[in-house]
Amino acid sequence: MRQKKKVLILLGSPREDGNSTRLAFAFADAASRKGHAVQSIRLSALHIAPCNGCRQCWKKASEPCVLRDDMDPVYPLLRAADVLVFATPLHFYTWSSPLKTLTDRLFCLDPQFKRNLKGKTSVLLATAADQRSAAFAGLRATYRLVADYMGWKRLGEVLATGVEAEGDIARAGRALAKADALGAKLS
Ligand SMILES: Cc1cc2nc3c(=O)[nH]c(=O)nc-3n(C[C@H](O)[C@H](O)[C@H](O)COP(=O)(O)O)c2cc1C
Repeated sequence: MRQKKKVLILLGSPREDGNSTRLAFAFADAASRKGHAVQSIRLSALHIAPCNGCRQCWKKASEPCVLRDDMDPVYPLLRAADVLVFATPLHFYTWSSPLKTLTDRLFCLDPQFKRNLKGKTSVLLATAADQRSAAFAGLRATYRLVADYMGWKRLGEVLATGVEAEGDIARAGRALAKADALGAKLS
């Protein structure tokens, strides 16, 4: 096997055992089987303030973010990770608020700075009640634009439709199998 990778899973669901979390764990199990080190963070359990746009991080290179909250321990994990996995329910056609808040806080790790998140691999795993795959258009575009802007390679996406109640994901076609296959793709 090639070098073991650090995989950081960002769980965006407010549910303890949500559909997107189950997708994430299918990905995680496969990545672990390949020998990679997987860690997940339940974002809804953290207190992360929205970026206030103060731009202090743009002025002082020594200060990544002046806000002191639960992002403090997350920044080192983000920087150490080789693979960032965004696992989210579709909430009003985009990713959930905790993921939006977290991505805004990446303002201080803009690719123009010496401290940045360039070169990482990223993954999108998402679930939606809507039966139409077009419902994911906004989320897919957001994820791809963010990943490309941040300088992340996109490993893949699993977007499961028709998934509403907790546990529905188990009956959602091949979504769990696809998440497993994506995790196994990590070399
Ligand atoms: C606040 C909120 C907004 C939602 N917005 C959408 C939506 O725009 N489109 C959709 O298809 N489903 C929407 N849903 C349904 C969830 O995406 C769906 O139930 C998903 O499978 C939940 O994933 P989870 O169990 O990981 O939280 C919404 C649910 C909530 C609670």
